[in-house]
Amino acid sequence: MCGIVGYVGRESRCVEVLLEGLRHLEYRGYDSAGLALQRSGRIERVRRVGHLENLERAVRGRNGDYARVTTGVGHTRWATHGRPSEENAHPHLGGSGAVAVVHNGIIENFAALRSELEDRGVRFASETDTEVVAHLLEERVLSGASLREALAGILPRLEGTFAIAAISREEPGRIVAARHQSPLVIGLGEGESFLASAIPALLGQTRRFLLVENGEVAELTAGAARLFGPDGAPVEREVFEVDWDAEAVELGGFESYMLKEIHEQPAALRATLAGLLGPEGEADTGAIGLPLREVRRVVVVACGTAYHAGLLGKAYIERLAGLPAEVSVASEYRYSEPVGDGDTLVVAISQSGETIDTLAAIQAARRFGGRVLAITNTRGSLITREADAVLLTSAGPEIGVAATKTFLAQIAALQALALALAAARKTLPEGELLRMGRGLRRLPERVEEAIGLAAPAARQAAALFESARCALFLGRGPAYPVALEGALKLKEISYVPAEGYPAGEMKHGPIALVDERCPVVAVLGEGLLREKTLSNVEETVARGAPVIAVAGTGDGDARRLSGLLLPVPEEGGLLGPYLWTVPLQLLAYHVARARGLDVDKPRNLAKSVTVE
Ligand code: F6R
Repeated sequence: MCGIVGYVGRESRCVEVLLEGLRHLEYRGYDSAGLALQRSGRIERVRRVGHLENLERAVRGRNGDYARVTTGVGHTRWATHGRPSEENAHPHLGGSGAVAVVHNGIIENFAALRSELEDRGVRFASETDTEVVAHLLEERVLSGASLREALAGILPRLEGTFAIAAISREEPGRIVAARHQSPLVIGLGEGESFLASAIPALLGQTRRFLLVENGEVAELTAGAARLFGPDGAPVEREVFEVDWDAEAVELGGFESYMLKEIHEQPAALRATLAGLLGPEGEADTGAIGLPLREVRRVVVVACGTAYHAGLLGKAYIERLAGLPAEVSVASEYRYSEPVGDGDTLVVAISQSGETIDTLAAIQAARRFGGRVLAITNTRGSLITREADAVLLTSAGPEIGVAATKTFLAQIAALQALALALAAARKTLPEGELLRMGRGLRRLPERVEEAIGLAAPAARQAAALFESARCALFLGRGPAYPVALEGALKLKEISYVPAEGYPAGEMKHGPIALVDERCPVVAVLGEGLLREKTLSNVEETVARGAPVIAVAGTGDGDARRLSGLLLPVPEEGGLLGPYLWTVPLQLLAYHVARARGLDVDKPRNLAKSVTVE
């Protein structure tokens, strides 16, 4: 949550690079945005409440003024301490404007630091935790320390999670930065250096990056980026190159990132599966990098959409590998005093690789000696560094706040894991495993088909939500996590209260919600569970609910019962949940659009949840 960016380099590039970086970080928070620039021997600050475009308008109006600026930092905010207002917007300045700071994370001991500073006569201009950092730095800079020394000096005083970047009036052409448990990358250019909370923010500028580790201080000038350890000694770090291209973070003709990312699902699956299955669909047990034969139990920890992927993962692991598996919401697991041993495989799923609760759940599992496998879309993210092994979902950057393509990629990674566990444990005949693997390799084409089939019907179905008070999403077995995910997508981007329920539980309470203004979305699934779900749907029809069924194109019962069919390709088995998910993503998208809402930046949310 919150995004930070920094640039030092050439005249006339600075403001453009900072704004472009913020544009690609806006998914991390959009309560306010701001820049601090070194200009004519002082620090000039521009901040605006609300989306980045407000800041852009303010800056564009003064473009000529900034042509000679070479150094600056920027911020996009998801409010934690203090309401979204201009006073609370970053960057924050020290009392005499000598130092400017941007920060992502939370300074947990800010109250104690603030009262200590106030006792020394410091006056605060905001309600934020960040402002203490600006004052602490400025005190040291004004008493003669370099900005780097000042930052190194205050780091041991800061508790919590943070990525901080600062500039000083006294040191033109220099940015310093540090982090603890919040992400920070440095980009390397020719005669220019960059920093940001995430790689996609800098893809338009460079492909060469350096990671900053907890406790290190980074110093950026136009000609170099250097790292220093907690003892002040220089640190050598290997530069790494990323192969994502800049187009991956552009809209490419789509009206929103969410729609673009829904359409990118076949490519996301193709790339993810290529890394996990052989060309003939053979499970690659080595790709996981853990002794799978020794696993006796699996625990999946995750939040939100990733948790829903985990529920499907549990089903695959139990069914294919015959291992007991459980799934926990990471924020619960971390405080649950979990039990286990070295034979427990803990699978932590996180698109961003930054979610603080998932990170803490890994640490909780470490305490009982569990082996941790991270499934993430973000190479080098915090979670990968805490885990014993990593499965990368190669979905490319996901910008829309609502997860879409990374959900399908997570399910695919979990299914590949289940196949690898089954192969290692020999729970299924080799031929059967190969058949399943080959089926998975066909998945991208089937998802492509699902997008084409569902698109027109999803637009039509959105009309049924025009005056909806709430919505119920029902499913059984593997269709149940899909129903949960459908409800989450709808509520987070359209603000229609929506609940996902196991269809058989509906009579135990939620059926009281059902009337003409509570559409029921039934994910029918297949076999016996389809029939049971159909009976539950009949009960909602009898109570006047408009019913939308996600079912195969030729499903006559579904057509008869529902006001509208969201058709999916006729394909069940392990591939069903992927195909049933697609129409629900499109449905949520069209409901939100029909309500005139910003699907990429739903209110109150941020893409990376780095606070508890
Ligand atoms: C919903 C959504 C969230 C995330 C959750 C976990 O569309 O995106 O529910 O799934 O915040 O995020 P990661 O996967 O980054 O740990």
